[in-house]
Amino acid sequence: MLRFIFTFIFVVFSSIICSESSVVEIHWNVSRILDSRDGRAPWKVIAVNGKPRIPPVHVQQGDILKLTVLNSLENATSIHLQGFTQNGTSYLDGTGMTSECGIPSGESYTYVFDTHGYSGTFWLMGGMNYHTADGLRTPLIIHEPLGRSDIHYDKEILFTFEDWGEETFLYHYNKQDVVKTSELVPYYPDGLINGINGNISQSVKLEPGKKYRMRFINLGAVYFFKFRIPGHKMHVIEADGISTEPLEVDGIDIGPGQRISTILTAHNTNAHNYIYNVTMYASFIVPHDKLNPRHYEGLIEYK
Ligand SMILES: *[C@@H]1O[C@H](CO)[C@@H](O)[C@H](O)[C@H]1NC(C)=O
Ligand SMILES: *[C@@H]1O[C@H](CO)[C@@H](O)[C@H](O)[C@H]1NC(C)=O
Ligand SMILES: *[C@@H]1O[C@H](CO)[C@@H](O)[C@H](O)[C@H]1NC(C)=O
Ligand SMILES: *[C@@H]1O[C@H](CO)[C@@H](O)[C@H](O)[C@H]1NC(C)=O
Ligand SMILES: *[C@@H]1O[C@H](CO)[C@@H](O)[C@H](O)[C@H]1NC(C)=O
Repeated sequence: MLRFIFTFIFVVFSSIICSESSVVEIHWNVSRILDSRDGRAPWKVIAVNGKPRIPPVHVQQGDILKLTVLNSLENATSIHLQGFTQNGTSYLDGTGMTSECGIPSGESYTYVFDTHGYSGTFWLMGGMNYHTADGLRTPLIIHEPLGRSDIHYDKEILFTFEDWGEETFLYHYNKQDVVKTSELVPYYPDGLINGINGNISQSVKLEPGKKYRMRFINLGAVYFFKFRIPGHKMHVIEADGISTEPLEVDGIDIGPGQRISTILTAHNTNAHNYIYNVTMYASFIVPHDKLNPRHYEGLIEYK
C-alpha cells in the first residue's frame, strides 16, 4: 500500500513537472539577403526566413527547443548554442568540422536543445564558414519560470552588441583587408546595437521607481563593448548563464560571446532624460583614428 502511495505521488508529481515544460518548435530557412544594418551600402548578409534580422528566441527553463534549420546558403552551415555544455550530445554542438560536418547546402537538420538545468542569457550562432560574422546569430533567453526568489524586477530590456563589416567576412579576408595583430583580424568599422547602427538604435523608456533586468550580449567576433548610463548604478546578477550574488557596478565591459544581466533601478522622478554611452574597442588592435575605439550614444527616456 505504502509503495502504491509513493508510486502515485511520484506519478502525480512528475506529471506536474512535465506539464510545466513544453516543446518549442522553430523553423529557420537560412539564406542571404541584401541588407544594410549600419546605414552603409547593403551587402549580402545572412538572414532567416527572408527577414532582415533574426528574432530573439525566448523559452521557459525546462522547455525542449526544436530548431529546424533549412540551409539555403551556398556552403555548409551549422548552429552552435553558446553556453550549453552538450555533455553527451556533442552531435548537437554545431561546431562545424569538429563535432560534425555541418548541414549541406539544400539540406535541413533539427537541433533538439533540452534546457533543463539552464537559465539566463544565451545565444545561437553559425558554427561554420564565418557565417556568424555575416549575421547568423541571435539571443536565446531561457526564462526562470518562477523568477529568482531573491531578485524582483518589473520588466526586461535586451541589449545586443555586434561588430560589423562593410562586406562579408570572406570578402575582407580575401582582400587581406585586415588589422595586423598577432592574428589577422578583419576590419570592423561599425558597431551595431540591437541589430542596427549603434547611434540610431531606439531609445530606452524607463518608468520612475521601476526595476529593470537589463540583458547584455556581445554577439560580435572581435571587439569588446563598454556600456554605462551616467547617474545610474546597476547590479550584476548573471554572468554567462550563471546566477551571481548582486554586485554593484557603474557600467559593464563585455567581450565577444559574453552575456551579463544587471538590475537597473529607475530614478523616482521623471525630471530628466539621460544618455547611455557605449564604447566599442579592442585593446589588442592599434588605436586607429576612426576605427578603434568607436563611441555610440542613445537616449534613456523618462518623459
Ligand atoms: C528558403 O529560402 C530560399 C531563399 O530565399 C527560397 O528560395 C526557398 O524557396 C525557401 N524555402 C522554403 C521551404 O521556404
Ligand atoms: C563557399 O565555399 C567556397 C570554398 O571554400 C568559397 O570559395 C566560397 O567563397 C564560399 N561561398 C560563400 C558565399 O561564402
Ligand atoms: C557528463 O555526464 C556524465 C554522465 O551523466 C557525468 O558523469 C559527468 O559528470 C558529466 N560531466 C560534466 C562535465 O558535467
Ligand atoms: C561617452 O563616452 C565618451 C568617451 O569616454 C565621452 O567623451 C563622452 O563624454 C561620454 N558621453 C556621456 C554622455 O557621458
Ligand atoms: C555617435 O554619436 C556620437 C554623438 O554624436 C558621436 O560622438 C560619435 O562619433 C558617433 N559614432 C559614430 C560611430 O559615428
